[in-house]
Amino acid sequence: MKAVVYSIKPFEKEYLAKANEKKHDITLISNPLGIDTVSFAQGKDAVVVFTNDDVSAPVIEKLKKFGVKYIATRSVGLDHIDCDYATQAGIKIANVPSYSPQSIAEHAVALMMALNRKIFLAIQNAKEFNFSLDGLQGFTMYGKVVGLIGFGAIAQYLARILHGFGCTVLVYDPYCQDFPEYVKQVNLDELYRQSNIISLHTPLTAQTKHIINTESISKMRKDVMLINTGRGALINTVDLLHAIRNGRIGSFGADVYENEKRLFFEDHHNDEHKDQLLQSLMNMPNVIVTPHQAFLTTEALRDIAAQTIKNLDHWQLGECTGESCACTVECEDSKKNREKPIKPIGVDIMY
Ligand code: NAI
Repeated sequence: MKAVVYSIKPFEKEYLAKANEKKHDITLISNPLGIDTVSFAQGKDAVVVFTNDDVSAPVIEKLKKFGVKYIATRSVGLDHIDCDYATQAGIKIANVPSYSPQSIAEHAVALMMALNRKIFLAIQNAKEFNFSLDGLQGFTMYGKVVGLIGFGAIAQYLARILHGFGCTVLVYDPYCQDFPEYVKQVNLDELYRQSNIISLHTPLTAQTKHIINTESISKMRKDVMLINTGRGALINTVDLLHAIRNGRIGSFGADVYENEKRLFFEDHHNDEHKDQLLQSLMNMPNVIVTPHQAFLTTEALRDIAAQTIKNLDHWQLGECTGESCACTVECEDSKKNREKPIKPIGVDIMY
């Protein structure tokens, strides 16, 4: 099969080449997919995309005209793809439903610990030979209540780690049937009310968009630590910034940002105009942001590449990709019954 892989980073190439074993004719390009770059898909059977590619209806329309039959994303999340539109256009979609969930869980813990123990301030000070302890007080994780919203693959590993710390783990996930004995299933209000730390692990859907907003924040403890390694638009960032400025949130750590498309994954330090909302957020001393890197481990890259090539293999054989199938109309042999993702979001910035 002929495929073009968009948004490729140098560190991914080796893993893809190894997984492919020269089976498919793959073109790697660093440009993100969008209306201006869709022409690279001419003559290809498949496009392979990532989280910040634009796979909206107008782009899919062009893909269809070029004869593209398959869209494979190298991510769990599907919120960057208009899956309904692609399915109607007869284009099959597949994701990587689970790859090293430990990588993301561990990054969430890294954000918690860095925020809690003021690691950045400590390192910054130490580099200037300032070894004073002012402003470095944290708390023990032991005995704290951590609320997880969404209890899928990533949150389940995170719960295990937090249980090891001696935390009480509360979870809210209306679709999950099976909970281990070391977590307590609660409703959202209860989770907001009790948690010292809240961590977000749902996909971005119409239901979860801006689940964290002024109203939900008002139900949380004033000193709450909020962690987001899910998707940026789970949080209304304007409401969040307001709450942090007003002392309604203790601290915030994120690996994702709602307007990260065409911003994250690239070096923008020389840009004259920077995203004001993100800059305002990052200027707060109790905020840390990482550039959507939670997935970036050797193990995850290997798993992503292997599953992506496996998806192309299935399509080549005329088979459904099974667990990876993200078509919104179920194929007969697809085991998946996933929630419908929403269309890519254009967010108005108001602040
Ligand atoms: P998963 O599909 O295993 O789990 C998601 C869970 O969310 C499911 O148990 C589902 O029942 C639950 N859920 C869905 N709607 C909900 C709602 N309205 N309220 C509460 N729970 C709800 O997915 P996984 O692997 O745990 O990943 C979660 C998310 O993390 C992905 O959708 C993706 O957006 C994000 N992610 C971020 C990465 C990063 O590098 N920062 C890397 C991988 C995933």
